[in-house]
Amino acid sequence: MSDRQLRDEVTTLYLAGHETTANLLSWTFYALHRRPEVIARLQEEIDRELPASLPTLDDLKRLKYARMVLSEVLRLYPPAWTIARNVVEDDEICGYRVPGGAFVLLSPFISHRLEEYWPDPERFDPERFAPQSGKARHPFAYFPFSAGPRVCIGKHFSLFEAQLILSMILREFRFQVIDHSRIGYRAVSTLRPDRPIRVRLTRR
Ligand code: HEM
Repeated sequence: MSDRQLRDEVTTLYLAGHETTANLLSWTFYALHRRPEVIARLQEEIDRELPASLPTLDDLKRLKYARMVLSEVLRLYPPAWTIARNVVEDDEICGYRVPGGAFVLLSPFISHRLEEYWPDPERFDPERFAPQSGKARHPFAYFPFSAGPRVCIGKHFSLFEAQLILSMILREFRFQVIDHSRIGYRAVSTLRPDRPIRVRLTRR
């Protein structure tokens, strides 16, 4: 690698790897705060599966419900809400003419709300990601990490990271979102909440 490429690779890793997972966790607390039944099930799983020490990768793999919850948060609040591509040559996709040189935006935020793939799309429901339940779904109905050769390199890392942080917080604390009014979207390079999501923690 040239020095320039090395710098660019490191910058990409920092930028792509930091804010995305941070947003995922912020939205997770927001999505959970009015769903005591989901929090109770998460805490039951954590108490059952996690050792008192620092969890290992194998421990995290047993947190299946936590993974379902995070997947559902990534459906409704995909931090990479839009993915851009330059079209190299004229093409036709599903009857749409796509001219060479055009700039195409794919949006997980929109696709993840298409009624034909996601019944009652605005409803937060981790059961959509229960084992087997996605088998019949179109493979590109859900792409929070993009897909194909440029799929997110941090896909598995970020899910383990989020699972680790979420489970360690919920193992020790109850939480309460302080300001209950609706949080809006701030869709910039990532999908941010339009104001901070403040949470009060109390020991369990
Ligand atoms: C919830 C967390 C994350 C989400 C939603 C996410 C989403 C994405 C998406 C959609 C892309 C494809 C962008 C495109 O094709 O234009 C991407 C690429 C990338 N992501 Fe992530 N990402 C996350 C976490 C991470 C983490 C933790 C790292 C690094 C440790 C990371 C590193 C990268 C890199 C380096 C690329 C560029 C890969 C390439 O172009 O070949 N991401 N990410």
